[in-house]
Amino acid sequence: MASNLHQDQQRHWQSVYTENPEMYGWHPSEPARHAAEFFGASGAESVLELGAGHGRDALHFARAGFTVHATDFSGTGLDRLHAQAAHDGVAERVRTTVHDVRDPLPFPDASVDGVFAHMLLCMALSTQEIRSVVAEIERVLRPGATLIYTVRHTGDAHYGAGTSHGDDIYEHGGFAVHFFSRELVDDLARGWQLREVQSFTEGELPRRLWRITQTRPRLGR
Ligand SMILES: C[S@@+](CC[C@H](N)C(=O)[O-])C[C@H]1O[C@@H](n2cnc3c(N)ncnc32)[C@H](O)[C@@H]1O
Repeated sequence: MASNLHQDQQRHWQSVYTENPEMYGWHPSEPARHAAEFFGASGAESVLELGAGHGRDALHFARAGFTVHATDFSGTGLDRLHAQAAHDGVAERVRTTVHDVRDPLPFPDASVDGVFAHMLLCMALSTQEIRSVVAEIERVLRPGATLIYTVRHTGDAHYGAGTSHGDDIYEHGGFAVHFFSRELVDDLARGWQLREVQSFTEGELPRRLWRITQTRPRLGR
């Protein structure tokens, strides 16, 4: 992936959250509601959220009693999350780290109870970078723990619209998105237990997404 696209996207997201600090509002997303129930039922106590933005979903996990470690490459978004967590009285259950998901996750092997990533893997990441992120998630998850992620897919109205950056990445209105094929979903689940691929929509476009639930096997590969 061209590093200038990455730098442009990081700058873009920083300015998006500066100009619109509550861009996604404070209601949790449907996938976060689902994930909180799933993680709770499977005995998880902590959640690692990747691409948490200004934190609508991280706050939901904290309010539901989880300890949340929220990461994003936008410090502006995470600052807003900090302020809101303090306002909501859940700051002690929320940690944040500015982190580019292309870099190794700053956590030990098999140390995380559950990973949640809503619309992060479909950002301006090449297929190879996405594979590396999923391998890192597998490394940090405890055996038997679950990754729940969502992505916009090739059935989305913006697939093929705007500027093509190759590798199914299209930039529209300043936002670069890697639209997922079903083949890519299946490829990323190789060696995992793929439990569910659920279609849903979000927003007014609407964005067309899949919510994927996959569990790390209890025995190593
Ligand atoms: C579509 S937004 C979703 C935000 C949040 N998950 C939500 O639904 O409210 C995607 C988020 O991913 C972040 N992001 C994009 N590329 C990233 C990268 N390479 N590393 C870390 N975060 C990234 C952006 O800053 C943005 O907050």
